[in-house]
Amino acid sequence: MRHLINPMDLSTEEVNNILALAKKIMANPEKYAHVCEGKKLATLFYEPSTRTRLSFEAAMLNLGGKTLGFHSADSSSASKGESVADTIRIINCYADIVAMRHPKEGAPLVASKYSRIPVINAGDGGHMHPTQTLTDLLTMSELNGRLENLTIGFCGDLKFGRTVHSLINAMVRYPGVKFVLISPEELKIPAYLREETLDAKGIPYKEVSNLEAVMPELDVLYMTRVQKERFFNEEDYIRLKDTFILDKKKLENAKQDMYILHPLPRVNEIAVEVDDDPRAAYFRQAQFGVYARMALIITLLGLADKEV
Ligand code: CP
Repeated sequence: MRHLINPMDLSTEEVNNILALAKKIMANPEKYAHVCEGKKLATLFYEPSTRTRLSFEAAMLNLGGKTLGFHSADSSSASKGESVADTIRIINCYADIVAMRHPKEGAPLVASKYSRIPVINAGDGGHMHPTQTLTDLLTMSELNGRLENLTIGFCGDLKFGRTVHSLINAMVRYPGVKFVLISPEELKIPAYLREETLDAKGIPYKEVSNLEAVMPELDVLYMTRVQKERFFNEEDYIRLKDTFILDKKKLENAKQDMYILHPLPRVNEIAVEVDDDPRAAYFRQAQFGVYARMALIITLLGLADKEV
């Protein structure tokens, strides 16, 4: 029985197997339409979500399973003071697998300690978002055609952006990967990530504040929203929120085969005029998220080897 709390819980081989399975599902979805018949996915979302919760639900429904859950702490007994540990013990009585999003870093890890069924971290505070990472890996693997030898520019809120932290951790395993970290001073990546992951593993990276200057170098531009909900005061958020706005003009020097990713939701950081650019991949990325989660559910339920 496996949980997925941090992308590093999966070996490179396991990640590659999940991506390979996702591609098989994409090529032949009807073949997998009954794999999870009789299984239930519980979505426990203590924080708002559109893509993650609904793509998990779509994934389970596509596999022939069923879903149940709550979409806010207010609509669950957390509002009466029930702990995560007690909640997960109860959900174990109702479901076969759980996806949990929580504003507190480490809450899905706590849940996993009390759970007899797989717990998937669907985003914990400003920490990790491993299923977004699988989505991003699948997107790059499909669009760029490789995960090796990529120069990835992360732009925006690299301090609170959990999708960035997760993806950096996952990408350092692939040879030839370089990072360009584009942010204002206040929103640089956390020191632990710089020291324990990038410096410790000798990964090439640079930290800059000018997006246009580095644009020609990038194979992937990963834009992020400034995470309003993680700021301690609104004044700082307002000052920083529009630091980077990607528009057509800024893309003039970008490679023709560079892809623009964004975990979404977008606020102002990508102008709507960019959506028609063939390099804009963020809506395709959301579609890849369904297949990545289908493959993950099958894998964690131990159904990957089942003949279909
Ligand atoms: N990418 C992502 O986590 O989006 P949601 O917050 O809508 O789930």
